[in-house]
Amino acid sequence: KIIILDFGSQYTQLIARRVRELNVYCEIHPFNHVPDFDDAVKGVILSGSPYSVRQADAPNVDFKAIGDAYPLLGVCYGAQYIALHSGGQVNPSSIREYGRANLNFIDGANALTKNIPLNSQVWMSHGDTITAVPDNFEIIASTDTVKVAAYHVKDTNTYCIQFHPEVTHSVDGKQLLENFLVEICGCSQDWTPDSFIETTIAALKEKIGNDKVVLGLSGGVDSSVAAVLLHHAIGENLHCIFVDNGLLRKNEFEDVLDSYQHMGLNVRGVNAKDRFLDQLAGLKDPEQKRKAIGRVFIEVFDDAAHEVQDVTWLGQGTIYPDVIESVSVKGPSATIKSHHNVGGLPDFMKLKIVEPLNTLFKDEVRRVGKALGIDPLILGRHPFPGPGLAIRILDDITPEKVAILQDADAIYINNLKESGWYDKVWQAGAIFLPVQSVGVMGDERTYEHVICLRAVSSVDGMTADWSHLPYELLAKISNEIINNVKGINRVVYDVSSKPPATIEWE
Ligand code: XMP
Repeated sequence: KIIILDFGSQYTQLIARRVRELNVYCEIHPFNHVPDFDDAVKGVILSGSPYSVRQADAPNVDFKAIGDAYPLLGVCYGAQYIALHSGGQVNPSSIREYGRANLNFIDGANALTKNIPLNSQVWMSHGDTITAVPDNFEIIASTDTVKVAAYHVKDTNTYCIQFHPEVTHSVDGKQLLENFLVEICGCSQDWTPDSFIETTIAALKEKIGNDKVVLGLSGGVDSSVAAVLLHHAIGENLHCIFVDNGLLRKNEFEDVLDSYQHMGLNVRGVNAKDRFLDQLAGLKDPEQKRKAIGRVFIEVFDDAAHEVQDVTWLGQGTIYPDVIESVSVKGPSATIKSHHNVGGLPDFMKLKIVEPLNTLFKDEVRRVGKALGIDPLILGRHPFPGPGLAIRILDDITPEKVAILQDADAIYINNLKESGWYDKVWQAGAIFLPVQSVGVMGDERTYEHVICLRAVSSVDGMTADWSHLPYELLAKISNEIINNVKGINRVVYDVSSKPPATIEWE
């Protein structure tokens, strides 16, 4: 494996993604929490950083010790740090060094830069630049404005680059990373979904033995893939619980429960609609609704988990971005995790935790799911918020409003699927607005509610653009909703991006 030491760059996770796309396993660790290196470590990468190496409180790392023991690749900050602390010079750049540049010199004989064509486009993003390097550094790539675009410390396995090979604008960045991983570190590129599945199942068997595990299924990708992996490892000792909170999409509970059962999972569906709707009655504030749903879910899950005798583990679908310890950019102090008050937790939360996907990124979870043969309908599903339709019904929630929204949403989603747009948007859903407007149907004046349609494109939900659905498709959906869903006489489309809007309305 490869260890990536993170100095807080926005691109660190992208380095990890690229390394893994080359079928090499890697882990991200904060620069100030360097793990003990075991025999599996084949090389180390130092990331970029929002810091300048010239700042007094700039993050430190003992690169000499690491470089003596392992092949080392410094990227951006990492490159500048090593240059500065080896007797070179780093100064603020006098000219713009953001964006695209082309390599006007490349040392084709060097292990890191071989097979990269002259003029290859690279992506620069730095405020400082290396202006002088010591005698034992050889420059292996340059651009018009950045002479030291890449260097090699002679007679060592330490290599550095000032540009970012991990972003797609660095056209041959992947080749460069492959050179480092394969030629320099000797990695064997055998980390694939199949190998992940094999080693994970073996490790789960070893860890859990004959114990029992409870796991809450949500119908989403992560919990489904986690459940199937655990099922392969421990079979019927995995007890899945799928809760119907009454706020899922139309027919979703029945459909998803059915496909879980087809997958051979030992799953119990719990109908808790009334418990949720009772507790939500009259609540209007979005945060109060979320809290009520969270509270009832814990109660319902705890009750269901108690029905499994002698359970010792709680399975969860946690994925890697949730567990990567982040580097604080406000100060290089170690992040301190808060401790839970174990005494006050419901019983199931006192169980030991097993998280088979906590080393994977979302797209890797999908690939593993595919290799496990999980239904593409489950793997390709849009993200859906835990509180479900409760936060898509603005204002208070009643069973009537839920039914109206479910019907309108089903028409919307079916049309997206039929037209091929479902897979082109990142997330879509209908929202029930708490306003009534005047309409006319036949000779009758109507005074009914408004449904808003929302569809966005996004990578991770942090930022999003509204999707440019064709007018014809919107016209068809609007027609179908108004003609078929009693209580709705108007449909609108949300054309706001995030930021400044959010994806959900509450
Ligand atoms: P926003 O509305 O913040 O949504 O732009 C970003 C993503 O998060 C989802 N979301 C939630 N998911 N519980 C969840 O599990 C919540 O309370 C919640 N609120 C928003 C939203 O659907 C989108 O994918």
